[in-house]
Amino acid sequence: MNITANKNIFVINGKRYTYAMYVNDAGYLQHAYYGKKISVSDVHYYINSIGGRLEPKSDDKNYDMAFDTMPTEYGFFAHGDYREPSVIIERKDGAAMSRLKYKSYCITDGAPDVKGMPHARNGGKTLRITLADEFSDTHIVLNYTAFDDCDVLVRNAEIKNIGKDTVILKKAFSCCIELPDDDYKFMRLCGAWAAERTPVVSRIEQGIMKIQSLRGASSHQSNPFGAFLRNGCVEEEGKCYGFQLVYSGSFSITAEKGYNGAVRIQGGINDTNFGWKLGCGDNFVTPQVALCYSDGGLGFLSRNYEDFLREHVISPEYVYKPRPVVINNWEATYFDFDNEKLFEIIDEAVELGVDTFVLDDGWFGKRNDDTSGLGDWRVNDKKLKGGLNTVIDRCKKRGLKFGLWFEPEAISEDSDLYRAHPDWAIGKDGVAPARWRNQLVLDFTRAEVVDYVLDAVSKILCEHDISYVKWDFNRSLSDFYSRTLDNQGEFAHRYILGVCELAEKLTKAFPNVFFEGCAGGGGRFDAGMLYYFPQIWTSDNTDAYERSKIQWGTSLCYPMSAMSCHVSACPNHQTGRTISLYTRANVASLGAFGYELDPSKLQDDDKCEIKKQIENYKRNESLILKGDTYRLSSPFNGKEFCIMRVSKDKMRALVVYECLRGRRTEHIIKLCGLDEDKVYLVNELGISASGSALMKIGLPLTSLGDYESVMLTLEVALS
Ligand code: DGJ
Repeated sequence: MNITANKNIFVINGKRYTYAMYVNDAGYLQHAYYGKKISVSDVHYYINSIGGRLEPKSDDKNYDMAFDTMPTEYGFFAHGDYREPSVIIERKDGAAMSRLKYKSYCITDGAPDVKGMPHARNGGKTLRITLADEFSDTHIVLNYTAFDDCDVLVRNAEIKNIGKDTVILKKAFSCCIELPDDDYKFMRLCGAWAAERTPVVSRIEQGIMKIQSLRGASSHQSNPFGAFLRNGCVEEEGKCYGFQLVYSGSFSITAEKGYNGAVRIQGGINDTNFGWKLGCGDNFVTPQVALCYSDGGLGFLSRNYEDFLREHVISPEYVYKPRPVVINNWEATYFDFDNEKLFEIIDEAVELGVDTFVLDDGWFGKRNDDTSGLGDWRVNDKKLKGGLNTVIDRCKKRGLKFGLWFEPEAISEDSDLYRAHPDWAIGKDGVAPARWRNQLVLDFTRAEVVDYVLDAVSKILCEHDISYVKWDFNRSLSDFYSRTLDNQGEFAHRYILGVCELAEKLTKAFPNVFFEGCAGGGGRFDAGMLYYFPQIWTSDNTDAYERSKIQWGTSLCYPMSAMSCHVSACPNHQTGRTISLYTRANVASLGAFGYELDPSKLQDDDKCEIKKQIENYKRNESLILKGDTYRLSSPFNGKEFCIMRVSKDKMRALVVYECLRGRRTEHIIKLCGLDEDKVYLVNELGISASGSALMKIGLPLTSLGDYESVMLTLEVALS
């Protein structure tokens, strides 16, 4: 990777990409190029012979009208540019037009430390370009961080008030990229509860396409990721760009096709009802965006995002550590448990070979259903006689570790916390708050609320031997209002900053506790949360057919080890479908593995099978933690699902194939990502073949029926 700045031309070169900009004659920073790696002299050629020639002369009286089609690095409002701006800065007199001119640059080591928010860490180099607004006293710093080990470019913007008067930021996107033509399709991850991250692809037409969340969390419905696919872009071929926010709050990503056919892509904090007061000397830092250019299809894009998130976002202490194989009691008991029931689960679980027992919702306060107790983080010793330690001791005696569920941001109206502090729940006096799952949300914009929850959760963690925490969040925000905030336009962003603060403090204070994120399933599965929690509960839907789709979509931009995947009982509680234990485990083993069932209800042969599944998972776990993903067959074709993991040194691989609907007679599946010249042994089939043969000719699979599956392991044959 290297960054060069020469005669106001800036060139960032990654392993396989180049990103270039220049300052034009009139002093504006213009986008020049983002794509396949080219030389610095090619960039200079482009700017001198093409880029510059398209622009009017700087002394042209109508120059401002050219802004509407000029490719900028950060869009400003009014004054000739009619596309959506990146920033709107409203002054005391109500004026909000801007004109951002280049001022200076510097290059620094490492990624910028974005205080209080998740951000890229560990190495890299950053180009910082400062723009000055000619009409307001603000400076805008555009950061571009590049890395040696992955083709991801991290961008964000900092907006600094250098004047005397307060201004209001009515919009502050993280970055703007300009694609010179419209031959792209917009792929985004849509969905719903129990159906998260379904890829949807559509053409970009003139006007604005937008994905967003206004829920205070990134959401089940829309993920803060978009990919822009050139015609012909498929799994291992073709060109595409990725746009991934390192942010967990209300967001938006827009693609705007202008009348000249060029496409402007931007995103960041959702600007609906946003308004941030920027006092004299204040600096507003926007969330980071991880951009990726791929000329190797969606597969190359996914592998780069996986490397980026593992090397630069997820906690280095945990990212490659073997994950505890957990058994969680939620679907086994829901709220209906006591010591005896839990002891039964624990005793049976030990026999299966799991590492950790996780006690889910219902252990605290007066929580026997979802109408009460949230916020009262004290053990319910009427339900758990003798307290939590009786359960923890049982685990320890049996050699299991113990994990515990919390929902730190939530509050029930029927709780001691609410009775003591009704004003801590989000809402406005005189307006009935919107309830969801019978609960309200705590006002995390308030420091005393965050501190209270920090103390309450810390107390439980200090007083008990807990090695695992599942942090859940079961509803969207709706009443965007804080009783103590003087500027309500800051509410949504301040809320998520409060969540980040608590996550940061808890994970720092308890470095030996493994934290798993969750939000009513996968409602906050994003790079922002991965900064604090190395894995996230992927979805409440554990049906092995639905999961093939959810995990496929999630793998487009998130690491496999980040997806928490459990085998649950059948008929499945979400879909009513029955799929074999073997297939359920095969699909779940493409992630951080565990169980979500009552082991005391299992037949002996299922117990034997589970024991083997866990041993098997542990044998293959390094591929899940450290390998690369190759998606071979999409479940969205309705027929089959096939994903493969290959170790970085290409010595080992794992293939999971699931037949979805309709019998698949004997057929052939072509593998990917192997070393052509190495000879691999396919253990389960007793076949030896070169990587070249396995990739070009393929591997024979036997006939399979609905939801039947195979797992194959490959290793380089010893010569
Ligand atoms: C939603 C989660 O996704 C479930 O796994 C479980 O923890 C429940 N919440 C508990 O209320």
